Amino acid sequence: ETIDAAGKLLAPGLIDMHVHLREPGFEHKETIETGSRSAAKGGFTTIACMPNTKPVTDSPEVVKLVQDKARAAGLVKVLPYAAITKSQQGQELTDFAVLKEAGAIGFTDDGVGVQTAQMMKDAMNIAAKMDMPVIAHCEDNSLVVGAPVAEGSFARKHGLKGIPNESEAIHVGRDILLAEATGVHYHVCHVSTEQSVRLIRQAKEIGIRVTAEVCPHHLLLSEEDIPGLDANWKMNPPLRSRRDVDACIEALLDGTIDIIVTDHAPHSAEEKAKGMQSAPFGIVGFETAFPLMYTKFVAAGKMDLSLLVKRMTADPARVFGLNTGVLEPGAPADLTLIDLETEKEVDPESFASKGRNTPFTGWKLKGWPVMTITDGRVVWSEE
Ligand code: DOR
Ligand code: ZN
Ligand code: ZN
Ligand code: ZN
Repeated sequence: ETIDAAGKLLAPGLIDMHVHLREPGFEHKETIETGSRSAAKGGFTTIACMPNTKPVTDSPEVVKLVQDKARAAGLVKVLPYAAITKSQQGQELTDFAVLKEAGAIGFTDDGVGVQTAQMMKDAMNIAAKMDMPVIAHCEDNSLVVGAPVAEGSFARKHGLKGIPNESEAIHVGRDILLAEATGVHYHVCHVSTEQSVRLIRQAKEIGIRVTAEVCPHHLLLSEEDIPGLDANWKMNPPLRSRRDVDACIEALLDGTIDIIVTDHAPHSAEEKAKGMQSAPFGIVGFETAFPLMYTKFVAAGKMDLSLLVKRMTADPARVFGLNTGVLEPGAPADLTLIDLETEKEVDPESFASKGRNTPFTGWKLKGWPVMTITDGRVVWSEE
């Protein structure tokens, strides 16, 4: 079979190390199959999924279930993270050895944050001995109760409680110190503030094993852009100030932030219709990530194409020690073919994801994936 790639960009399959697939337990939001299809349509061939499902990925049975469903879908490689604490309750550590044996690729508290330093230090000590990464959603709960958006002009204008920047940076700082003490590889989830960037940059300078990720929405939107009380602009961490956005961009360019992830977080229209105060946090990400980054950074002259591709392929592979196939000569390839010319509007109705919750509706973008090849097989192609 011959594939006509003339005029297109052929890239290694994109890798997204932070996604929510919702199965088991929240299949009305997404399933492993619909999430995998959405990922493939977005040009991704490998995704790593978070454990905040029901039940939580805190046992080998749930790891196996995720792997089995992903294999049955047969679209992209799905790598499960396991939870640091049982049921993500922050009370009792999970059995890291058993979870690693089952195929978990790291331990995380995404969605909640491990709230006591002692619990996090114990987790990091165990993970360090097993050479497994700890991936932390950094947020001090005591600072964020009841706040749907960041502290700033939008919150003030609408009389909403604001999430302060230090709720994130306090935990980043804490976990950097714990990583230094334990020697673990600590990966910082979805960096969104200038202060977190500063702490990560300093930690890297003195040789602490820390890596970090950022989402397209934190590089493209600030709290000042939120048009009104539409919960499609509600995510965690929240959209911050323009100054924070600029700090995140600079950090992605200079390597302080290693990788781009989507934090793909599908929710149903009914859930999002509850409004800014009550709707769940999160936006979908797979099907807009590359076109957003390509159009707004590469085509706009702010970032080299090779650097964008690296931050979405080789860098995640390096940070997490993945062998994605293309790295070894002769192995079946993971590839993405991308049309850099055709402009299309973001239309949530066209998403393969069950989630329609995006703030990017109507954006005119280029850089749409047209074919995705996982392990040498075409798993998705434009018509
Ligand atoms: O916006 C978010 N949504 N942030 C998180 O940390 C969790 C996620 C979710 O599970 O919906
Ligand atoms: Zn998170
Ligand atoms: Zn933390
Ligand atoms: Zn997340």
